[in-house]
Amino acid sequence: MSRHDVFVTLKVLVVLIAAWVMASQVRKPGRWLGRVMARAMNRSHAAMTAWGLSHIAVEKNFTILDVGCGGGKTIDTLASLAPDGRVFGIDYAAGSVATARATNAARIAAGRVDIQAGAVSHLPFGAVTFDIVTAVETHYYWPDLARDVSEVQRVLKPGGTFLIIAEAYRGRRLDWLYRPAMAMLRARYLTIAQHRELFANAGYVDVVVDTEQSKGWIYAKGTKPGAAPEVR
Ligand SMILES: C[S@@+](CC[C@H](N)C(=O)[O-])C[C@H]1O[C@@H](n2cnc3c(N)ncnc32)[C@H](O)[C@@H]1O
Repeated sequence: MSRHDVFVTLKVLVVLIAAWVMASQVRKPGRWLGRVMARAMNRSHAAMTAWGLSHIAVEKNFTILDVGCGGGKTIDTLASLAPDGRVFGIDYAAGSVATARATNAARIAAGRVDIQAGAVSHLPFGAVTFDIVTAVETHYYWPDLARDVSEVQRVLKPGGTFLIIAEAYRGRRLDWLYRPAMAMLRARYLTIAQHRELFANAGYVDVVVDTEQSKGWIYAKGTKPGAAPEVR
C-alpha cells in the first residue's frame, strides 16, 4: 500500500467514524456532544414542528406531553400555545433531558413545564392524563413501535390526540438518500400507508396522515376513542 493509499484509507475511516458518532448522537444524545446535537435539532426541526402542530387544535388549558423531547424546543412552543395549561417532556437520553431543562428553565421554575428522564415504552404517568401527546422526529427509534403507540394511548384522555411529526418517510423526496441514512441510524422508515396502519391497529380513530411533499415532511395524528376533553 502506498503512502497515498494509507492517507485515503485513514480519511475514509475518519469520515465513517464521524458519521457513526453523529448518527448515534441523533438517536440518543449523550451528556456532552449530545447537548450540542440537541441544541442544533431545536433549530433545525422548528419549522417542521410548527407545520405539524398547525394541524391540531391546542386549547389554552391543555395538559400536553412531548415524548422524545430532545432539546425541548417543542415543549417551549407547546407551552406558548397552552398558556394556562401544563407541558411535560420525557426523553431517555441524559443530553436531551439536560438541554430541554435548560431551554425551558423559566417555565420549569414557574411550575408550568416538567421534564423527566424516561422511555416511551413505560411512560411515567398515570392513565388518562393528557389532552395531546406529541412525538417529533423520534418514533423511528422506538423499540416496539406498535406497543409504544398503544402506551401513548394509555396516557391520553378519551378524545385526546396523538401527533407524530417527522421528516423521513419511505417514498419521500430524495428517498434514495434517506433509505441508506435511515438504515445507518437503525431507524424505522415507514410508508404513508404504514403510518396510517400503525395508528389504526392501535385503535386510534379519525386517523389522518398527510405530507408536505416539497419539504419531505409527514404528520400522522389519531384520536383516542371516547368523549372529547371538556373545554373549560
Ligand atoms: C432526533 S431526536 C428529536 C428530538 C426532538 N423531538 C426534536 O424534534 O428536536 C430523537 C429523540 O428521541 C429520543 N428517544 C429515542 N428513543 C426514545 C425512547 N425509546 N424513549 C424516549 N426517548 C427516546 C432521543 O433520545 C432523542 O432525544
